[in-house]
Amino acid sequence: MDLGKQMWTVLVVLSLVVQHSQAKVPWEVQRYDGWYNNLAYHSRGAVGSPLVRLLPARYSDGVLQPLQEPQLPNPRRVSDVTARGPSGLPSAHNQTVLSVFFGYHVIFEIQDSRPPGCPPEFMHISVPEGDPVFDPNRTGRVLLPFQRGPWEKHSSQSPNNPRTQVIALTHR
Ligand SMILES: *[C@@H]1O[C@H](CO)[C@@H](O)[C@H](O)[C@H]1NC(C)=O
Ligand SMILES: *[C@@H]1O[C@H](CO)[C@@H](O)[C@H](O)[C@H]1NC(C)=O
Repeated sequence: MDLGKQMWTVLVVLSLVVQHSQAKVPWEVQRYDGWYNNLAYHSRGAVGSPLVRLLPARYSDGVLQPLQEPQLPNPRRVSDVTARGPSGLPSAHNQTVLSVFFGYHVIFEIQDSRPPGCPPEFMHISVPEGDPVFDPNRTGRVLLPFQRGPWEKHSSQSPNNPRTQVIALTHR
């Protein structure tokens, strides 16, 4: 038997094996990107589809600019107020920090799954003057820059079509 015929035989046997094993999966193999999870609306919840909005959008210009101070509190101040306190104290209820670390794990996984938007849009958080970590010299000019996440390209047009974010990861 020459090499060509041998190759053909191997290919035919392989394809038969693959077909046979495929036919043997009796359950529905779900996709990791969430497509077709909803049998009525196939793209709902899938990666790349618009994030479902349960409440109306609330941008400062009604279209895409986020609300900032004074309508909302300064994010750094909120973080400082909620997380400040002496460290190293044992739990009064003898509990471990397992649930805290698990929460961090979930948050970081969600945050890391959001790539920056394209074209890039930069914004910043103004650090309150005299912040012990970021502004020890009390300059009042420290900014924490960040890049806004991806949005649906046909949104951000008008108050009737405000910016809509895009799903980047599905959790099943
Ligand atoms: C925590 O553990 C200590 C030492 O085992 C014990 O004396 C104390 O009663 C425990 N506290 C609670 C709230 O269970
Ligand atoms: C604060 O000021 C001191 C003295 O001028 C300087 O050495 C230090 O780098 C400054 N710190 C910050 C965070 O700017």
